[in-house]
Amino acid sequence: RIGSLSLAGHYSANACLLPICSLYGMAVTTVEGVGSTRTRIHPVQERLAKCHGSQCGFCTPGMVMSIYTLLRNHPEPTYEQMTAALAGNLCRCTGYRPILDACKTFCKDSVCCQSKANGKCCLDQEEDLFDRKEKESASLFSPDEFQPLDPTQEFIFPPELMRMAENQPKRTLVFHGERMMWISPVTLDELQDLKAAHPKAPLVVGNTGVGPDMKFKGVFHPIVIAPARIPDLNVVKCMSDGLTIGAACSLSLMKDVLRNAILELPEEKTKIFYAVLQQLRTLGGEQIRNVASLGGNIISRKSTSDLNPILAAGNCMLNLVSQGGKRWIPLSDIFANGVGNDAIMPEEVLVSVRIPYSRKGEYISAFRQAPRRENALPIISAGMRVLFEEGTDKIKDLSVFYGGAASTTVCAKQTCQTLIGRYWNEQMLDEASRLVLNEIVLPDSAWDGKVEYKKILIVSFFYKFFLEVLQSLKTMDPCRYPGIPMEYESVLENFQTKMPQSIQIYQNVELSQSPQDPVGRPIMHQSGIKHATGEAVYIDDIPSVDGELFLAVVTSSRAHAKIVSVDASEALKEPGVFDIITANDVPATNEFHYSDDPEIIFVICVGQIVCAVAADSYAHAKQAAAKVKIEYEALEPVILTIEDAIKHNSFFEPKRKLEHGDVDKAFETVDRILEGEIRIGGQEHFYMETQSVLAVPKGEDKEMDVFVSTQHPAFIQEMVAASLGVPANRIMCHVKRVGGAFGGKLLKAGLLASVASVAANKTNRAVRLILSRGDDMLITGGRHPFIGKYKVGFMNDGRIRAVDVKYYINGGCTPDESVLVAEVSLLKMDNAYNIPNLRCLACACKTNLPSNTAFRGFGFPQSGLVTETWITEVAEKTGLSPEKVREINMYKEDEQTHFKQKLDPQNLIRCWNECMEKSAYYSRKTAIKEFNKQNYWKKKGIAIVPMKFPFGLGSRYLSQAAALVHIYTDGSVLLTHGGIELGQGIHTKMIQVASRELNIPMSYIHFCETSTTTVPNACASVGSAGTDVNGMAVKDACQTLLKRLQPIINENPKGNWNDWIKEAFEQSVSLSATGYFRGYDANMDWEKGEGQPFTYFLYGTACSEVEINCLTGDHKNLRTDIVMDIGCSINPAVDIGQIEGAFVQGIGLYTMEELQYSSEGVLRTRGPDQYKIPAVCDIPEQFNVSLLSSSQNPYAIYSSKGLGEAGLFLGCSVFFALRDAITCVRNERGLKKTFALNSPLTAEQIRAACTDDFTKMVIGSLLFSSIWQIP
Ligand SMILES: Cc1cc2nc3c(=O)[nH]c(=O)nc-3n(C[C@H](O)[C@H](O)[C@H](O)COP(=O)(O)OP(=O)(O)OC[C@H]3O[C@@H](n4cnc5c(N)ncnc54)[C@H](O)[C@@H]3O)c2cc1C
Ligand code: FES
Repeated sequence: RIGSLSLAGHYSANACLLPICSLYGMAVTTVEGVGSTRTRIHPVQERLAKCHGSQCGFCTPGMVMSIYTLLRNHPEPTYEQMTAALAGNLCRCTGYRPILDACKTFCKDSVCCQSKANGKCCLDQEEDLFDRKEKESASLFSPDEFQPLDPTQEFIFPPELMRMAENQPKRTLVFHGERMMWISPVTLDELQDLKAAHPKAPLVVGNTGVGPDMKFKGVFHPIVIAPARIPDLNVVKCMSDGLTIGAACSLSLMKDVLRNAILELPEEKTKIFYAVLQQLRTLGGEQIRNVASLGGNIISRKSTSDLNPILAAGNCMLNLVSQGGKRWIPLSDIFANGVGNDAIMPEEVLVSVRIPYSRKGEYISAFRQAPRRENALPIISAGMRVLFEEGTDKIKDLSVFYGGAASTTVCAKQTCQTLIGRYWNEQMLDEASRLVLNEIVLPDSAWDGKVEYKKILIVSFFYKFFLEVLQSLKTMDPCRYPGIPMEYESVLENFQTKMPQSIQIYQNVELSQSPQDPVGRPIMHQSGIKHATGEAVYIDDIPSVDGELFLAVVTSSRAHAKIVSVDASEALKEPGVFDIITANDVPATNEFHYSDDPEIIFVICVGQIVCAVAADSYAHAKQAAAKVKIEYEALEPVILTIEDAIKHNSFFEPKRKLEHGDVDKAFETVDRILEGEIRIGGQEHFYMETQSVLAVPKGEDKEMDVFVSTQHPAFIQEMVAASLGVPANRIMCHVKRVGGAFGGKLLKAGLLASVASVAANKTNRAVRLILSRGDDMLITGGRHPFIGKYKVGFMNDGRIRAVDVKYYINGGCTPDESVLVAEVSLLKMDNAYNIPNLRCLACACKTNLPSNTAFRGFGFPQSGLVTETWITEVAEKTGLSPEKVREINMYKEDEQTHFKQKLDPQNLIRCWNECMEKSAYYSRKTAIKEFNKQNYWKKKGIAIVPMKFPFGLGSRYLSQAAALVHIYTDGSVLLTHGGIELGQGIHTKMIQVASRELNIPMSYIHFCETSTTTVPNACASVGSAGTDVNGMAVKDACQTLLKRLQPIINENPKGNWNDWIKEAFEQSVSLSATGYFRGYDANMDWEKGEGQPFTYFLYGTACSEVEINCLTGDHKNLRTDIVMDIGCSINPAVDIGQIEGAFVQGIGLYTMEELQYSSEGVLRTRGPDQYKIPAVCDIPEQFNVSLLSSSQNPYAIYSSKGLGEAGLFLGCSVFFALRDAITCVRNERGLKKTFALNSPLTAEQIRAACTDDFTKMVIGSLLFSSIWQIP
């Protein structure tokens, strides 16, 4: 049951925003209640796991709950319902495809994409792909294994709650907390009395407005009033003049009500309903809409409301009551003089909202553009309505409202009044555009800095409304109104999220392979089921230890300053506070690792940890931390950008350079030279599990258990031991699994583990430190922003002869691995191309931003993008196609890289050719050309990008690995190794290796945890190398054991595993062995610029197609085909999952994820509200991945290749497809051929590049300058 409804139904909700008190009378189902391995797993859990829908597993319970809820309400949902149900869930690992595969098994729609865009639907294409090779497989799971979904087996609503709802008289409920009181009345009279008595108390319905303010902005309300149980606030009535909807009705209910009304009433009457419904479809996610109320959205008067502009434009009325009486006011009144006007008294309550029917001659539309199409607050939203004089196109009444432009919804009142009496034609449009731009004044620094973009959206939306109305007029009277040109029509349709279709192709194992041998098969993730049932344990799931304390960190608010004083006296008085931990409490070493900079006395970035508060709960610790006062003395200079760093000569040394051939001479002989620059923004790891540590002192010999979410336990052990001044043998570091890392849980985790351990050491208590998302984003840094400056010499036939390129990377305040990132960016910058004369230089800039760190791809995604940019520009200059220039310059036969490492590019060329063929590149390119000719405001683009991804860690010692295998006398095997489970399925693969080597089923083998107590000095799980190196070690250990067992097996060949183990024990044969891998030989001489830093190369190619909306900058990813050479896959399900997940993370990097800083260096994007990672709506509608067949790799285990990082770079195929679409727009409009596009190529950048009259009206033809982005 849900408070605002009297119906029994199932609703998903976000636990973090749902007040417990609001659940009175309801039954709550959590993932544990859906199913468990101890009782019965639910089909949703089973299918998610078996379809490989979990990697790190941290998002999986959320996915389960969204799907489960939908199935409880609709046992056979449509694809549309399914994608809508998942719109509010985020996954950082999988790329969503396997999750959607699991979802599809419940849907009733056919599996066909219904699209015949190329004359073929997905099924036809699938057939084509299958026809080719018998040995290939396209199924990663087998649906025959799934238990059926039987709705009769589900839990029923608890009868006692049902009885309670039916029989018990409703009375006011009051809950008292430590600091707060929750009052839930049941009649309007009571509510009025309460409101009169406590005018400042908020009315809380969904808590999606009040909750975030309390959680993140420090707002505190001692009393809240919850009106959801009052019938008057839950009415839904069809009246003669419109629809009345109670203020406490959820937005989901409102959606259903409007949808039904549209179906039942004549179209003419429901135009407002239709427009409101359109906004509701993308407002928040289903979890938000299920609890958020109509009244809450209206009364909050947030600038970002999607509803207020359209409800105001639609002449909706508000029904208000207070002790003083009842009144109706137009909704637009509450925006009359900006925010905080007195249209509603503090003691007034909104009871209901009247949405009127539309009239004849009335047209109404709603618009929005957000950083992500779904589940993102709008940048600009708008509601527009026009009423014509009967039978004409003469404006009788016009209403235009915008959200996102000012601190609340604003009305273009003057504009509308001036236009009354005008006819709906181009003169009116021209005048309206100028008037509206004049009237809607945006503050110079909107919070998100998108002032110019917002202005352009303001006029673009009006233009779209103009077109829509013209088209509607035509429908009304085609003889009088010609409508809009055909090529304009497509812009009237918004991009929709469709259920993506996909194909995955991999090579089957040989028929001769034993059925028990799991290597090469798509085995489910070892923890898949536990991910789906919520049983998988992450750090914060570890039960609390007696006397445990929680830590909240206090961070610097200055980018560069001296700390004059830290005053914790107020904090110490807060309830539950145990102690304050400062630098003085560090018993031994206290400095950033690899750094000479002293910590604490000076702060060198905003977000640097200054001290920490230990308290008996997280809430208490956080409350007290806010009371710590720090006095600073400002220091100069404050260096934030790369330009600042260059100006102040602020770099981390050494700078690196590689030179090959004679660059200067080559420049003299080339036909042409181009020069340019590209800026690439940083990226937040956004692992779902934030940084987490639990440090437990063991009470003797200074021993401490440290449970930590890290990629590098040995480093944590070293850091903690150094901080505490104890030998490493006292620190036991344990990692069961990590909820995503992507490079971010390497060095930064060490710093946080030290903080927690110092606190545990001082207090002699267990200490838990779980960073909030905001703190995590603020403190831990991310991918390095880059600026690439290039000069390229080329011949008219497309051959590139000389390249001179400089990379400046923003390292932040401490070195971390910035110099290494710079090195790797140089070593991989050639990507797939043989450039005979090449000079490249990389400098890591030292700035006052939080220190940046390792991130999947480690510099290559940035330097590779620079390379592909100049390749594309050469194509533009020569008039050749980008794919031709790529082909001309690609490595062709046995060749050498720019640092003289040999490579055989055969598989690079195979990937390229196969991708060309599988994607039907040329025929689609022709179709796109045709589409673009027929569509003016929408354009498609396509790009195909090759990739060479060198594998290697640079030094032998960094790729050493060890394993430990025990066989117990019952035959079961406990396996461990130095690798960390980050979601990449390493333990699953290691069990596959051990199963093959020991020739026993996987079910005999268990993996418990990675620990410094079992495998010492293990290298970090980084650089795609985990499986390669640990696989070798596991193989070695298993072979040692098998060697010992061999005589026993020989003696009793007909015996089984258990017989042999029993016998071995009786013969005193050791049943435990370590395995070791010394690492790959690697070297690099930076003085000479030569070496063999890499072990082997992976290859791949991606082809992506996109469609852009030139009016808004929005885009849709239509199709991606990837062909990857990863050798012989050990587990195709895991490997394809890695490719897809990395690719989607790449889409995020290159097209969406935007970090914004204030001019003082404060990161503003500190949560999912402001920082958008790809969601279901962002993955390509058609997403195909093929693994290159018959590829061998003599250097890695079972001929596989390490592939965790490679796929990320291929996300840039979307960037270049967007560029292709923009190029088409610019060519058509006769604009300058050369133009710069930076990364991320957001809607804002796309809109700016599609220069038209509207952009000229706002900014001339220049590209936007995003004031908050700091490369
Ligand atoms: C993750 C997330 C995504 C979101 N995305 C969007 C989006 O895309 N577009 C969009 O428009 N909005 C979005 N929102 C905002 C959301 O729609 C509103 O917060 C929600 O509608 C408010 O309703 P509520 O019941 O949760 O309000 P509450 O938080 O319960 O209350 C909000 C305010 O309204 C007042 N109030 C509530 N009911 C009444 C009443 N009957 N009479 C007088 N005052 C009342 C309260 O006093 C309080 O001040 C999002 C919110 C979240 C958390
Ligand atoms: S599996 Fe979804 S976030 Fe890791």
